[in-house]
Amino acid sequence: MSAGITAIATLHSERLKRLSESEKLVAKYRDPLLLASMELQSRLYNILEQEFLSYYENEDRRDLVDVYTAFLIGQFFSWTYILRRQVQFFHFSTDKSHQKLSRAIEAIQKSFSTDEYGKEDSDFMLWRGEQLAIGEIMTVSDDVAPDRVSLNFPRLHRHPITMTTPTDNKFQDAQAYLAKHQGDSYLKGWDLLWDKGDYLPWDRGFPNPALEDTLVQRVGTIGGPIAPNGERRKALVPGCGRGVDVLLFASFGYDAYGLECSAAAVEACKKEEEKVNNSRYCVRDEKVGKGKITFVQGDFFDDTWLKEIGVPRNGFDVIYDYTFFCALNPELRPKWALRHTELLAPFPAGNLICLESPRHRDPLAPGPPFASPSEAYMEHLSHPGEEISYNDKGLVDADPLREPSKAGLERVAYWQPERTHTVGKDKNGVIQDRVSIWRRRD
Ligand SMILES: C[S@@+](CC[C@H](N)C(=O)[O-])C[C@H]1O[C@@H](n2cnc3c(N)ncnc32)[C@H](O)[C@@H]1O
Repeated sequence: MSAGITAIATLHSERLKRLSESEKLVAKYRDPLLLASMELQSRLYNILEQEFLSYYENEDRRDLVDVYTAFLIGQFFSWTYILRRQVQFFHFSTDKSHQKLSRAIEAIQKSFSTDEYGKEDSDFMLWRGEQLAIGEIMTVSDDVAPDRVSLNFPRLHRHPITMTTPTDNKFQDAQAYLAKHQGDSYLKGWDLLWDKGDYLPWDRGFPNPALEDTLVQRVGTIGGPIAPNGERRKALVPGCGRGVDVLLFASFGYDAYGLECSAAAVEACKKEEEKVNNSRYCVRDEKVGKGKITFVQGDFFDDTWLKEIGVPRNGFDVIYDYTFFCALNPELRPKWALRHTELLAPFPAGNLICLESPRHRDPLAPGPPFASPSEAYMEHLSHPGEEISYNDKGLVDADPLREPSKAGLERVAYWQPERTHTVGKDKNGVIQDRVSIWRRRD
């Protein structure tokens, strides 16, 4: 018995010794870890709440935004890696005094490894193994004093973390891709882009808040989702991409249709619809309920898809055009305007909502996106199907005295939205996007 007590006493004293050494180590690394966490937290807050990514518009700062954000993530992983490596023999996660810290680290690692964020399931997902590897890459041991460790920024720089924030490079990649498929084969270009799936620089993964605000604040102009005869009104999103705007329209109660020329994009839309935890698209008004969602593959300019979904020409009460006008080669703009007159319901039920963007892009810069100043919408939609002349600066030769044509749409509202995606702002953060609403005259 006495031998037993001695053994327990020895174990206890060894445990105490381990604890105090562990305390010392945690104390040594806790402060840099805390600092790294605060720096990372501040960067995430700035990105999510303070429009930090608008610095992307500024070429001189873009690289800094990328690299330093990557550094802050790496720095955090590095300190957790160091801490775990140093105290791994000290029952770090079971010692009561460290449990709070251990649980906090665990929660952060779990958030990084979840597939819940981003537009693709794995956009912001870093598996635990990857987190560990980043931590390891970021850490250099000192050969002379092995417990002395430091951060290795240049090494991280050589192993940049890829983040799916849109960059001009991605735009250029997409442009180069589309440039291979000009003229009649341009649909093939979009198709291949979607099949490839990693050059989708326009894709923000959620609807533009300007659309949401329009549907909430402009019911007086557009009308609600239910027609006077009690039927749901129909909303069309041409070139709907991942379909997020279509889901938004349905959540407001419209029967919502998303048109895409690419089969892979239609698949992406269906996947987006299946995401169950998408609180963004919850029913807005219980009395109205949710509208039906239909995604269809087809070419905006022909009628095949209309037949497939059983909607006649001029059967859409609302059409939402965002990043579609600017995606099309300007040569197609007369056809684009004419086609809207063929799809939009007659006055006053039919409303075409254009979220005009990007208005502040250099008109001579290659696209897509092609610069889309308000004057271009005005000239084309006032004279559907007609050639509009552009000057050598790439701007429409607008003639304010020219009468609109009979089939021309009329602009019934035009405003600067209070909120929009960052790409719709200039380098000073001023919103350049505009919303315009158009109706047929007949
Ligand atoms: C720049 S993307 C915008 C996507 C979406 N509106 C968004 O904001 O994420 C343009 C989309 O239009 C589609 N598209 C281009 N020409 C089309 C056409 N003639 N008919 C149907 N879709 C088309 C492309 O496949 C592409 O997904």
